[in-house]
Amino acid sequence: MRTAPSSSDARKAIALSGTEAAAEVTAEVARQMRESGVIPKLAVVLVGDDAASAVYVANKARQAERIGFGSLQIRLPAETSGAELSAVIRRLNDDPSVHGILVQLPLPPHLPAEAVIREIAPEKDVDGFHEVNVGRMTIQSSRNAFVPCTPLGCMHLIHRAIGHELKGLSAVVIGKSNIVGRPMATLLMHAECTVSVAHIHTRNIEQLCRTADILVVAAGSPGLVRGDWIKPGAVVIDVGINRIAGEAGTHRLAGDVAYDEAAEVASFITPVPGGVGPMTIAMLMKNTYAAALQAERANPRRHAGLRARSNG
Ligand code: GUN
Repeated sequence: MRTAPSSSDARKAIALSGTEAAAEVTAEVARQMRESGVIPKLAVVLVGDDAASAVYVANKARQAERIGFGSLQIRLPAETSGAELSAVIRRLNDDPSVHGILVQLPLPPHLPAEAVIREIAPEKDVDGFHEVNVGRMTIQSSRNAFVPCTPLGCMHLIHRAIGHELKGLSAVVIGKSNIVGRPMATLLMHAECTVSVAHIHTRNIEQLCRTADILVVAAGSPGLVRGDWIKPGAVVIDVGINRIAGEAGTHRLAGDVAYDEAAEVASFITPVPGGVGPMTIAMLMKNTYAAALQAERANPRRHAGLRARSNG
């Protein structure tokens, strides 16, 4: 745990490096993998040609390969039907060499995300989006639940900043998506924080934010949170990754928080890029390793080949 500057301290907030924390998490997964000899395989499915999604999927597959996982990238055309996508998912469900399945969201509008996610075997749902995993996580029997990677990464950064004792702290989450806002609020509740979830219809959102010891922003609105929305000494986690178009086809990434202003007030703040983004991928590696380990334990003989190959 690091020491936060006190609210009377004129120093800037400490930048919480997701790049650094993600490297530690990934190194630990690699160490466990070497020790157990269990080598996970991650299948990533991308439907359509959304440029940002293509970058995220490539980063996930690249990281999986770098750490020594098996990796499978399946790219399907935007006009893929629901039945065709189901068939791909069923094939991956039935393939014992695949431990984790991730279908990149958003999907093209004709494919209903909820129904597609329901097709993924819960024990391979390393995104933690399947209703079985959401249910398990929500009722806190999280032993067998996969928890969504971005909120898991945010919690890791919060703990890294101020330790594990969050009891009684006031937390505000901006955004109520299934991917970030809702699971984030659940994890903060499990940590005994007093949690508010703000969204587009929230009244006096600035005022609400000023009550937050922990402020997690996943609004998808560049620079939404200004310095004067922040309680002095707060921990600020910026989940926003907004591509801002520049000249001649260039772009830069900006978060949902006005970083320079917020850094004058907060004790800890995540930068964009280099904050939450790398954590999402690190937690995906962690979940995929956990899925492989669970599969190995459930059926050691079926997976014995993997183990033998890695040892030999
Ligand atoms: N789209 C944005 N974030 C995510 C994520 O964590 N997983 C998937 N599957 N799609 C996403």
